[in-house]
Amino acid sequence: MKKITIAIDGYSSTGKSTIAKQLAKALGYVYVDSGAMYRAITLYALENEFIGSEKDNIDALVKMLPYIKLKFELNNATGAAEIYLDGKNVEKEIRSLKISQHVSRIATITEVRQKLVDMQKKMGENKGVVMDGRDIGTVVFPDAELKLFMTASPETRAHRRYKELLDRGEKVVFKDVLENVQNRDYIDSHRENSPLVRAEDAIEFDNTDMGLQDQFERIKGMALRVI
Ligand code: C5P
Repeated sequence: MKKITIAIDGYSSTGKSTIAKQLAKALGYVYVDSGAMYRAITLYALENEFIGSEKDNIDALVKMLPYIKLKFELNNATGAAEIYLDGKNVEKEIRSLKISQHVSRIATITEVRQKLVDMQKKMGENKGVVMDGRDIGTVVFPDAELKLFMTASPETRAHRRYKELLDRGEKVVFKDVLENVQNRDYIDSHRENSPLVRAEDAIEFDNTDMGLQDQFERIKGMALRVI
């Protein structure tokens, strides 16, 4: 079987990573969560007070970018790749609402995108990869053999994210989660640099009323037809 590249883009909390992870496992492919990389840079910026305190210092963040070390490592217990920032596993920390509230702004910075897109292209150079994000089918892998663009109503997405945060023990209010989902959609779709848009050759996939198993079967079917 030939190896292909699968790009899954779409709005926040559309379940891209859940499907991408399952699909990669079923095909024996590598899964890359590109959003985790933007989240880890955001965590770095907050920890070093380049953002989040009185005045942002984006120039200082940009100067430090070449020295920030990001890598994914497999967690043997779960079989999932987890992200490390400067040698520390930050997989859990990067999922907080606070990171979600800052990440889209960090993702507008050209130098941040350059660094991460270069890394992502390298991770996919041997194909056999499923990557999810916002610009995978348009910028990172414009030649991907299968491109999906996931959508669902904002309320459905906010409910999913709200439940996820509660399950992880974070005390959040639904209104804040909905607001965050809508804000991120807006910033991600309106930024100058690689905005979130459906690639012309991407298949739009609305999963508002669809269960996980159903989604997985349909998308796996699409992949197998291309392979
Ligand atoms: O996928 P996730 O929701 O974790 O992504 C967090 C944020 O990272 C997005 O809202 C977006 O601002 C940014 N992002 C991006 N390009 C990607 C992946 C994520 O700009 N390829």
